[in-house]
Amino acid sequence: MRHARLPIVVVGSGVAGLATALAAAPAPVRLLCRAHDGSGSASALAQGGIAAAMDPADDPAAHAADTLLAGAHHNDVAMVQWLTREAPGVVAWLQAQGVRFDCDADGRLQLGREGGHGAARIVHAGGDASGAALVMALRARAQAAPHVQWRGGVEVDALLLRGGCVAGVRTLDACGRQAEIEAAAVVLATGGIGALFARTSNPPGADGVGLALGLAAGAMPRDLEFVQFHPTALDVAGQCLPLVTEALRGAGARLLDAGGQRLMAGLHPLGDLAPRDVVARRVWQAQREGTRVWLDASGLAIDWAASFPTVLAACLAHGIDPRRAAMPVTPAAHFHMGGLAVDADGRTSVPGLYAVGEVACNGVHGANRLASNSLLEAVACGRRLGGVLAGLGAHRSEHAASRWIERGAGLQAEPLAALRELLWQAAGPVREASRLRDAWRVCAAMADAGWQARLAKSLLRAARLRRRSLGAHCREDHGCPV
Ligand code: SIN
Repeated sequence: MRHARLPIVVVGSGVAGLATALAAAPAPVRLLCRAHDGSGSASALAQGGIAAAMDPADDPAAHAADTLLAGAHHNDVAMVQWLTREAPGVVAWLQAQGVRFDCDADGRLQLGREGGHGAARIVHAGGDASGAALVMALRARAQAAPHVQWRGGVEVDALLLRGGCVAGVRTLDACGRQAEIEAAAVVLATGGIGALFARTSNPPGADGVGLALGLAAGAMPRDLEFVQFHPTALDVAGQCLPLVTEALRGAGARLLDAGGQRLMAGLHPLGDLAPRDVVARRVWQAQREGTRVWLDASGLAIDWAASFPTVLAACLAHGIDPRRAAMPVTPAAHFHMGGLAVDADGRTSVPGLYAVGEVACNGVHGANRLASNSLLEAVACGRRLGGVLAGLGAHRSEHAASRWIERGAGLQAEPLAALRELLWQAAGPVREASRLRDAWRVCAAMADAGWQARLAKSLLRAARLRRRSLGAHCREDHGCPV
């Protein structure tokens, strides 16, 4: 009997999931996401652009060197060399998908410079709205692609394990209806874990759900302790805070304390553009001392509507006019360098289960990600994984024993809020042994109550085990670099 070809199930509709789905053609793809219209990914909020050595005077090897320096040389060197060589081709592919990057009057790509980059090599689309531009273009392509079947409004709450291989998923919709989908392969493209922290630049959906599911299925984690904290999210009420892009400091904005003094003065040769973790720790420390921190861009000769429309709109929505007044800022959980351990093609340690984008860790970012390397990685690795899956034969082993691996129930609202505060205090920009231990004990006691507590426990364990400070992981009991 001939079977219809089983689909590749891609979970997540951010840039990594969309690039994977598109590149898997002509293999049938079932793309599953929580929102009906595929919105809500962290990709869509990304204000950085795509880093690529496009200038004739620049070189992928220089981009690689900057990536390794930012990552504290904890990176997978071969992956870094591959990614930085791929970058110009990624920009060209995105243009072919309809992304319109910002150009100068002669039609040449504008190349911006961001913290940690030794050359101007960041392409943006719509100023600080690059992520939204990429998502819009790739989503339109995926929704029109005949090989992609889109299903929004569902969560994946279990993986089907058959004969030791992941062979499908179970979905749950808002009405509690379950559906089972058999798959040739399952790709987790579910994003990061920022929403597990009390203060984050990530959307609520970046809660680590895919990471939790992968770990429940026995996939190996890697580098879970490495979380990047962005120094300048808008310090307003709420958990998901609008980001105030680093590019604004690149354009001249300055961090000030409550007395109007320069916060970064004398601390680092690069001042306000010191590495992200250094600035985040300084802002955190000032807050600990009871000082509110401000970012002053008032009076700068910038075209806000063209270059920073996202920051401007977010500030105005909170009653702050950044053209005339300083913005209150705070550090916020921004990007997870760790995740499910994958090889260069996105394979986890469980056959049939793949991961791509922020939920995955292939080692490219090391202990700290370089600015504007995340959308780049999402697209490059998504295309590479899609290409691998396109050639995958569907092996249906109907006679092997099957079982469902459940993610399990989530925490109720109150304990979840307490867990987020706990992680922020214990595993935020500055960490210390006794706080990590106490938080781990609290999570261990809550572990049966919800998957978020089990995931937090794994992260805290990794943070306890890495006693030395490295990259974004700062252990003040063993000395943090400035
Ligand atoms: C930013 O624009 O400050 C963030 C960019 C990034 O995370 O790469």
